[in-house]
Amino acid sequence: MARTPAAPRGTRDILPEETALWRRVESVARELSDRYAFERVETPLFERVELFARSAGETSDVVEKEMFRVAGAKGSEEERAEWALRPEPTAGIVRAYIEHGLHVQPGPLRFWLIGAMFRYDRPQAGRYRQFTQWDCEVLGDPGPMVDAELIELALRFYADCGVTGVTAHLNSIGDGACRPAFREALVEYFARVEDRLTDDSRRRLRINPLRVLDDRRLDPDLAAGAPRSIDFLCEPCRQHFDAVRSLLDGLGCRYVIDHRLVRGLDYYTRTTFEFFVAGREGQQQALGGGGRYDGLVEALGGRPTTGIGFGLGLDRTIMAMAEQGIEPPRDGALVAVVGATDDLVARLRVCTALREAGVRVRPDGSTRKLGKQLEAAAKAGARWAVIVGEETAGDSVVLRDLDAGEQQELPLAGVAASIAGSGAA
Ligand code: HAM
Repeated sequence: MARTPAAPRGTRDILPEETALWRRVESVARELSDRYAFERVETPLFERVELFARSAGETSDVVEKEMFRVAGAKGSEEERAEWALRPEPTAGIVRAYIEHGLHVQPGPLRFWLIGAMFRYDRPQAGRYRQFTQWDCEVLGDPGPMVDAELIELALRFYADCGVTGVTAHLNSIGDGACRPAFREALVEYFARVEDRLTDDSRRRLRINPLRVLDDRRLDPDLAAGAPRSIDFLCEPCRQHFDAVRSLLDGLGCRYVIDHRLVRGLDYYTRTTFEFFVAGREGQQQALGGGGRYDGLVEALGGRPTTGIGFGLGLDRTIMAMAEQGIEPPRDGALVAVVGATDDLVARLRVCTALREAGVRVRPDGSTRKLGKQLEAAAKAGARWAVIVGEETAGDSVVLRDLDAGEQQELPLAGVAASIAGSGAA
């Protein structure tokens, strides 16, 4: 037999038994996006490499190591890889905001999307090369209230999905006014203990010292003694951070201050946050994260506009749900339409009428014996069978309760109500 090519490493097929949880998570995200007055946007799955380099940063992992580059066809203008599959959606949304001149619309503008992201990372449980995020972004809202609102929204999402034990981690990394002093303090501190840093961190110490705090293999004692960004905040950044905290306190949202939370993308200013589920903190696998990026629109060529948002990893949310034994919602009762005769037109007509009445219908298109069709219906999980061709009156069908083994003849128009009334729908 010919060998079947396998799915690429770090990708997964999501099969029907898992899609029920996906449907639940996506519907919670959609419904919350709507209730929190976000508007849906879609951006391309690939963008110019330059866009990611100028937003996430040349020295971020996603740009330096994890880009899935895309080249045009042989002989085309773009034969060399000029694009990359999006590693994250914020840069694309901000690009679209600038490109379409959305700043003229009355703001703040609130956008959401659900979509696939791509990072060429080393695959492991919870870390994939293709994964899905629910992303929310707010452009043009500088005040602290939206920071608290987004954190509350993310926590509500986890609660509505049924995930328990989620903690918000919070930090402020300051802005262009106060971060240079913090950077300097970090360089000074880590330069003294350089021999205890990983090769990656030693390299980063010169080009992007905040990322040393982000190194999963950083010695915890060194991390604990490191300078803390909140001790370096300038007055406006400190006031913003204090306000975010008191708003969260006022809302009853629990959080912990996490001094190592500098985030892996360079565009952040001030507030940064991440969500962890109990038991997974050690693996540095956040369920989701986000923060403020007040300089990004301008850095990408737009007018100065503040921004804040989050990206919640849906794969990891679903993993947490499965680990916590959360059952997907049950579908409505399944009705099989089978035939006592070979009249397939009559069978399809019955299917259509039942579906119009809101019934979930799975037809049997075979002409095998009725007993075999009923057996197959039960095996496929049908609770009921509608038998076409056994009825005595013109607009009637026979409805069979496959669990009880009882059947009755009734008008086709009464089937949906009869099933709903039985309490087994
Ligand atoms: P991020 O922290 O890079 O932020 O990713 C957000 C979430 O995506 C992570 O917390 C995680 O749940 C999920 N994720 C990331 N990489 C992987 C992976 N390889 N496999 C599975 N899940 C993964 C951002 O992407 C920012 N754009 C968030 C943001 C929006 N900040 C402001 N606005």
